[in-house]
Amino acid sequence: MKILIVGNGARESAIALKLNSDKRISKMYFAKGNATTEVLGQNIYEDSIEGLRDFVIKERIDLTIVGPEAPLVAGIVDEFKKYNLKIFGPRKRTAELEGSKAFSKKFMQTHNIKTAKAVVFEAYQEAIDYVRTQEFPLVIKASGLAGGKGVVIADDLAEAETTIHQFMIDRIFGDAGIQLVIEEYLSGFEASIIAFSNGEKLFPCIPVKDYKKAGNGDTGPNTGGMGTAAPSPEFTEAHQKDFEENILKPTLEGLHSSNIRFKGFIFFGLMVTNDGTYLLEYNMRLGDPETQVIMALLENNLYDVIMDCLEGNEIELKFSDQKAVCLVMCSGGYPRQIETGFEIRNIDKVKDSQVLFAGAKMKGNQIFTTGGRVLSLVATGDTFEEAREKVYQGADVIHYDYEYYRDDIAKF
Ligand code: AMP
Ligand code: GLY
Repeated sequence: MKILIVGNGARESAIALKLNSDKRISKMYFAKGNATTEVLGQNIYEDSIEGLRDFVIKERIDLTIVGPEAPLVAGIVDEFKKYNLKIFGPRKRTAELEGSKAFSKKFMQTHNIKTAKAVVFEAYQEAIDYVRTQEFPLVIKASGLAGGKGVVIADDLAEAETTIHQFMIDRIFGDAGIQLVIEEYLSGFEASIIAFSNGEKLFPCIPVKDYKKAGNGDTGPNTGGMGTAAPSPEFTEAHQKDFEENILKPTLEGLHSSNIRFKGFIFFGLMVTNDGTYLLEYNMRLGDPETQVIMALLENNLYDVIMDCLEGNEIELKFSDQKAVCLVMCSGGYPRQIETGFEIRNIDKVKDSQVLFAGAKMKGNQIFTTGGRVLSLVATGDTFEEAREKVYQGADVIHYDYEYYRDDIAKF
């Protein structure tokens, strides 16, 4: 069996590591991969959808798994299906649940999914007139994909007006700012739940706590994620029940009534407030760094559950009772200006955690930084404290110029 994994983050490294022990898989290819995937298989430098399609046909690849959102929103699944190529992920139309916040908000409203109250705008002046009547803080979102930077929590009218101008007139995120979603600010804690879809049903994984802010104590700018802990100790059974009744179930009903039967992942970005659990967003893929801790605790064979979903079979997900922690090591300055090209040393001194590279590549026997999120350290333990000690031992010994990581991941 040959597999292609699209993406180059630590998420893709975690998927690869999970599949690596499966004897049925003879070779894994990665587009474009990183320093971990280069060791587990072969990195290829193709990234157009047509180029990937041709590669899969030529190499007779049996299954393609897509990590990031951009190729899904661009229609990689539609193209592969035209050629009867097996691929796990939603079609372009369904990926719009992530690619367009206006579309997903309308979907949530139509199907009575518990979410923040919001209005969608296409005209600049109407958005300005609206915020002048509102109380603050207020959340302003560019509808399209903006690399996680298109959400601003405006504390006052001046900030709201500036943001609307930047998104709609200056177009700092290009066409992503053609439509805006302006919504009420919800205060609480966040949780990520990712479910497998077999086209008929959704099968949720354990809830994950993602540390989104760059700085200790949840300060500084939002990032793609600085670390994760699973299962989230904050997310109780009552929250889970609330999620299942008011978010998971109506989402499935909404998908069915919209005639959407996708096979892939759906990620629920949740905010838990004193009034219960709200859906902030859908992502139509696995999360990064959520995947790192999910794969560490998932007891099923990943290839089998994906194939079962593709065939429309029921699956039963099993997770270990242990705790998992992922610590992301970055290039200083991330998510803003960063410098890369520095050698990463002492990987061999890491004792009890997995090292999953992201923004890192090999040159001969040496590994160099290439991106904002450089690597993930992942460990499990009977307690969060134990798993935490393991990942921080790794972070203590690994060195590269401008390294940065948070000190408080999984400190409960
Ligand atoms: P989104 O891409 O819509 O999930 O937004 C990115 C981040 O912005 C979320 O993870 C939250 O931290 C924050 N956020 C989004 N919507 C809201 C909201 N209605 N209230 C408070 N924070 C929000
Ligand atoms: N960690 C959040 C995401 O992958 O979107």
